[in-house]
This record gives sequence, C-alpha cells and structure tokens, in this order.
Amino acid sequence: MSVKILAIESSCDDTGASVLVDGKILSNCIANQTVHEQYGGVVPELASRAHQENIVPVVDLALKKAGVSKEELSAIAFTQAPGLMGSLLVGSSFAKSLAMALDIPLIAVHHMQAHVLANFIAESQPSFPFLCLTVSGGHTQIVRCDSPLQMKVIGETLDDAAGEAFDKSAKLLGLPYPGGPLIDKYAAQGDPKRFKFPEPQIPGLNFSFSGLKTSILYFIQQQELQFIQDNLADICASIQQRIISILMNKLVKASNETGIKEIGIAGGVSANSGLRKALEEQGKKYGWNTYIPKFEYCTDNAAMIAITAWYKYQAGEFAGLDVIPGARAAF
Ligand code: KG4
Ligand code: ZN
Repeated sequence: MSVKILAIESSCDDTGASVLVDGKILSNCIANQTVHEQYGGVVPELASRAHQENIVPVVDLALKKAGVSKEELSAIAFTQAPGLMGSLLVGSSFAKSLAMALDIPLIAVHHMQAHVLANFIAESQPSFPFLCLTVSGGHTQIVRCDSPLQMKVIGETLDDAAGEAFDKSAKLLGLPYPGGPLIDKYAAQGDPKRFKFPEPQIPGLNFSFSGLKTSILYFIQQQELQFIQDNLADICASIQQRIISILMNKLVKASNETGIKEIGIAGGVSANSGLRKALEEQGKKYGWNTYIPKFEYCTDNAAMIAITAWYKYQAGEFAGLDVIPGARAAF
C-alpha cells in the first residue's frame, strides 16, 4: 500500500501544505502573508492570526491538487521547530488534531533539517557525505550530512543571518521588506566592483554579518539621497557580492577541511541568483557536484517538510500527541 503524507509548514509568515506519495511530491501549496510589508518585518501576532485563517484552505488545496482525501492519509507531518512560537502552535495544533481524528501517526520535523533535505526532492540527489550551506532569514549554517537524518552543524553565524544581512541592507537603502529579492533584482543591473565593503576575518567555519551592516550604514550616512537613488544598482550589486563572498569562502574552506565535494545550498537566500551562479562557478573550479533546490523549495515551503517526514516515516520516527513546538531548537 502506498504511503501518503500530508505536511504542514507554519514556522514564520508563510502557511504551507504539501502532499507526498511514496517519496514523490504531488502538491506544494503556500499562502504568503503580505500584511507584514508595511511594518518592515514579520509581526508575530499578525503571523499567527493569518496562519489561523489560511491553514484550512491551504491544506484543502494541497489535498485536492494531489487527488488525495484525508481518509487515505498515512501520516501528518508538521514543523516543530525552530520558528515563531505562535506560528508553530497553529501548525502543530492543526496537525495533532487531524492525526488524532484520523488515528494516524504524527511526524515532528525540524525546519532547518528540512531546508537541507529540499535538495533530495529532485531526481538528481546528492550522495553522502554531503555539505549544505543553509541560508535563510533566521539562520546561516554549514551542515555536514552523513545520511538524511544524520546531520551536524559545522559552522554558523555568530550574529545576523545571511537573509537578515540582505533585509537589513535593503531597509537602510529604503527598500521594503523582505529586501533580499529586491537587492537581487537591482544587483542584476549593477557593477559589483564599484563599492568595497569589508570582509570580516572570523576564524574557523563561522560567519559574521554585523560588521558589514555597520559599514553599509556608514556608507549610506555619508551619501546624498540622490546619489543612493542614482547608484542603487551598483550599491546592491556590491552588497550582494560581499555577502556571497563571505558565504562562498567559508564553503570552500569547509569542503577543503572535510574533503567533501558533494555541495548544496538551501534556505530562502539560496533563491538569490548571484549565490546560485557563484556555487556553480566554484563547483567547476573545485570539481564539486553542486545541488540547488528548485526555486519553490528554497524559501519556506511544506514540500521540504514532507520529504523529511518521508525519511522519518521509513525510519519509524514518530511523535507522540504530547509533542510541543519549540521556538529555538538544535538538531
Ligand atoms: O527560508 P526563508 O524563506 O525563511 C526563513 O526560514 O527565514 O528565508 C527568508 C529569507 C529572507 O531574508 C529573504 O530576504 C531571503 O530569504 N531571500 C533572498 C532572496 N529570496 C529570499 N535573499 C536574497 N536574494 C533572494 N533572491
Ligand atoms: Zn526557513
């Protein structure tokens, strides 16, 4: 009999639902919350309310698109951690109620592990050991994976995440939230060598982005508004270039230190066109096999929760109904 899993993602501001059948993603639906744009960042209270409104229609749509009824489901998966507590509670409560009503197993998924496993949705999958640079709005990690469920963080940010570096830079430039995609857009027309922003000297495989943020702030304070507007593309290209070089230099170091040449990226920032190009270039230079999830599996989505749940299902890793979400959790 085939295994049918419904997965729910509600860690931050997007409500996602996905249906997986025997390891294949049949639907991946998402309701994005636009209410936060006017506040320049995610407002947790508003995020929880929007999840409440969106969760039933998004789940219904995911089941409909997949042609699967609730009664046919083998298990329900949900994002347990990390994330905004109120947001996590909506997804976890929904998943628990449905698992209880249908009397089927519940699978608790770590959001960061799921970002990494987004690389395993495609036909062409990494072999192990595999190194993944996970770059999102809340995390920047280099993860060593020895199997789908055996992962270890070997480097991470000491302050801001890469996505925050993009979003905060964009905010300083007067761009709306989330600024990452906008910097990417403007950077495409700009000269990345025009302005020089410093690269921090952090030992080991850890990252730091707070110094970059400060140098951008000083740079902007020294310029006329008109200058910023007239040179926006070059400024965005130079900022993006620096964020990418900070990330890629550590990834090269991690590959050299571990000897691993199966290398992927994941998380919202892996949607960045400059980073995707840089990974391919470095891959050619160092003889890596590189992996980049499809666009829709980079930013928060439920398909990555579903693929993680599929591995957990096969390993028999189920959660009890007493499982509680965690705002911060290591894996
Ligand atoms: O993984 P994600 O969707 O949510 C978190 O778990 O944080 O990542 C969101 C982050 C935001 O900081 C957003 O600005 C960034 O990913 N992002 C991008 C791009 N698309 C999304 N940053 C740079 N370039 C992009 N194209
Ligand atoms: Zn995420």
